[in-house]
Amino acid sequence: MAVNESLPRLAVLISGGGSNLQALIDASKSGALTARVALVVSSRRDAYGLERAAREGIASFVFRMKKNASAEEAGELLLDTLHKHRIDFIALAGYLSLIPSNVVRAYRNRIVNIHNALLPKFGGKGMFGRHVHEAVIASGEKESGPTVHLVDEVYDHGKILEQVWVPVLPDDTPETLAARVLEQEHALYPRVLQKLIKGEYELE
Ligand code: GRF
Repeated sequence: MAVNESLPRLAVLISGGGSNLQALIDASKSGALTARVALVVSSRRDAYGLERAAREGIASFVFRMKKNASAEEAGELLLDTLHKHRIDFIALAGYLSLIPSNVVRAYRNRIVNIHNALLPKFGGKGMFGRHVHEAVIASGEKESGPTVHLVDEVYDHGKILEQVWVPVLPDDTPETLAARVLEQEHALYPRVLQKLIKGEYELE
């Protein structure tokens, strides 16, 4: 397929399987998302999402904080890479580290995250993956679902752009609930990114 150089360039940041990354790649290929996934950044060398990037011929970069580096220095390194790849928008997709504030500032309103519960509940440090669904079930919530929000300097905190509601069923396990939420994530994330790229949200 010919590469359209005029499309906005998206970096997807991952730490794991990258099924949301795949949803974004697929949406980009189908034209539902008029952006090009131009870079995958992983905080882990063994993330399966890196294989997805390789299979698609997408550039990738393993970004690990050096032991003695400040968040500022780590941010500079990440920014250098993002600029080198001429990245316009950033999507966090299962990325487990905090984004350095110099990166947040440089990409203000152009950096989003997907979370697997209805924020502002069930978010924050340590609330990721299975822990989230366990907490939702333990609290007796009747509904859950993904949230896409802008990224700021605090975990799971920026302005909420969209959410989708799914039922929490009486016999749900963290796995069955995760599967129901994840299916919605894959539809929601490309849709929100498309609206963001098209400037369809009112942002400050
Ligand atoms: C998703 O549930 C996402 O909401 C959360 O981390 C998970 C990542 O899954 N932030 P994957 O790596 O995209 O499959």
